[in-house]
Amino acid sequence: MSSHLATLPASDLNTVAVAGLAGGVPGLIADLRSDHAGETGAVAIYLGILAVSRDPQVRHFAREHLTTERAHLAQLGALLPPGQRSALLPLWRVAGWFTGFLPALIGARAVYATIEAVETFVDHHYEEQIRKLPAHGPGGALRNCLMAWRWLVGSGSALAVKAARRV
Ligand SMILES: [Fe+2]
Repeated sequence: MSSHLATLPASDLNTVAVAGLAGGVPGLIADLRSDHAGETGAVAIYLGILAVSRDPQVRHFAREHLTTERAHLAQLGALLPPGQRSALLPLWRVAGWFTGFLPALIGARAVYATIEAVETFVDHHYEEQIRKLPAHGPGGALRNCLMAWRWLVGSGSALAVKAARRV
């Protein structure tokens, strides 16, 4: 992570900073809405895994990632007022839960393959957004957040993100 990109710490990112940025970054609110929906789904994925898996390694993996995804969700929640969040959050929760639950029924390899696929998707999703953001000021801070998250587990599918940008 190159620290020169941002002049503001991530803790100074809030709904006011985002509102100020939104005018200059096309699609920013839609992007954040899809991010928030994705992190909501990510939390649900790990809850779905933990609901069924009895494999100690898988459970340890899921518990650690659940903590990370809950932190991401809280950070995005601080950027996006409830009125701007996806109206389909209950659907993303259910979809995410089954995305974790079903492979966990099969076993550890299915769980890890699923998470890998989700991570690859999220990586591309955040990469597209990072390119749009300015390097300095609140945009730089947001950019740094997204760059960090890019490397961590999120959730979503192309369809879910498309829909969440709109609904
Ligand atoms: Fe995440």
